[in-house]
Amino acid sequence: MRISVIGCGYLGAVHAACMAELGHDVVGVDVDERKVAELSAGRAPFFEPGLPEVLERATASGRLRFTTDMSEAAGAQVHFVAVGTPQTAGSHAADLTYVDAAVQGLLPHLSEGDLVVGKSTVPVGTAARLAEVVRASSPGADLAWNPEFLREGFAVADTVSPDRFVYGVPAGADGERATALLDAVYETALATGTPRIVTDYATAELVKVSANAFLATKISFINAMAEIAEATGADVTQLADAIGHDARIGRRFLNAGIGFGGGCLPKDIRAFQARADELGLDSLAFLADVDAVNLRRRERVVTLADELVGGAAGSRVAVLGLAFKPDSDDVRDSPALDVARRLHEMGAHVAVFDPEANVTAARLAPQLDYAPDAETALRGADVVLVLTEWREFKALDPETVGSLVAQKRIVDGRNVLDLTAWRAAGFDARGLGRP
Ligand code: UDX
Repeated sequence: MRISVIGCGYLGAVHAACMAELGHDVVGVDVDERKVAELSAGRAPFFEPGLPEVLERATASGRLRFTTDMSEAAGAQVHFVAVGTPQTAGSHAADLTYVDAAVQGLLPHLSEGDLVVGKSTVPVGTAARLAEVVRASSPGADLAWNPEFLREGFAVADTVSPDRFVYGVPAGADGERATALLDAVYETALATGTPRIVTDYATAELVKVSANAFLATKISFINAMAEIAEATGADVTQLADAIGHDARIGRRFLNAGIGFGGGCLPKDIRAFQARADELGLDSLAFLADVDAVNLRRRERVVTLADELVGGAAGSRVAVLGLAFKPDSDDVRDSPALDVARRLHEMGAHVAVFDPEANVTAARLAPQLDYAPDAETALRGADVVLVLTEWREFKALDPETVGSLVAQKRIVDGRNVLDLTAWRAAGFDARGLGRP
């Protein structure tokens, strides 16, 4: 099938490449010439395991190309809209400028029978509004909402074989036609029995934001337990293991630490609350607490580091990890980068190292001292902060680290280190929510 993908950022680039991998003929459209040039050369503009290989195969096969020219979307039957919906400056609401521009830009190139498919995360009500726009401008064309649940670091696998499909479609025969088109796009995964939920626009939009709100709440729940554990001498990691054995609760997403960040969870819970406010509902007031607990954990690490060195000003801090999670170079709303910046603002010399995110972080925070490797960052440190759980940091040897630092102090911001082993090597080792 001929497919266009409008917006080739994180979501769109992965989606375009994976659709071509599945055998479709795909054109990716983006306004950013540099990004289009990179992708056209078969290179991924960001770090994502497996993506370079898929991109290379797909561009070499001739089934995938990228352009800045929206008119090249003409002729495709299905047009995915995968542009960003960032947080609006000065408000919590989602900024729909790019989604609106993408749909407007597509309108002159739509033909009868075409389906515009929204993948971006949007406030409930957006799809119904855009469907009107599409139908008014291009009779015979229609719109569906098909939210995306991919996780960074697993984006290729999550796109090729997701754990479910959700189609938000219009009622009646139009909905059946939209469903049949999406089924044809996702034929390979559906053949393996991937569940698919066909529903109305509003439900499809809400599935996405409620899934992210649930995940954020689960993380903040365990981080709230970490606060209680800190006040009582309990161990939140054992608590998580114990409650996680209850199949109704489950152990995943119960890792206490410096909390969630990234391009989705923080902005999505804020936009969801803003939408509930617009609807005059208090239903999501608790998400303000979810956000507050999350931000307090960053503060906690800053305070802990400050106390350990007896005042951050003039001290040397080594920060290991800048990405919002491992296997990513994404530092959007990264708790790790936030902590590093704050300690710098307090007058500490902050040496940082991330296996993939040094470059992306340096664009946002050039004031930090970027080390080429962990060893360089550690040398002469008064305190070490492990803030992203990259495999190489989990495998650090306490004796080796001890021989590099000035003072044997370490804070495990992700609760992935064996504190007993570090203490045995002479470290003052602290976790979050652990005695
Ligand atoms: C998230 C959703 O998981 C995905 O379904 C959606 O499509 C986009 O948003 P992503 O942003 O890639 O994906 O990251 P995710 O793996 O969800 O992690 C988010 C943040 O939560 C990270 O900063 C991570 O470190 C943190 N986290 C996760 C915890 O602090 N504890 C946990 O137990 C799990």
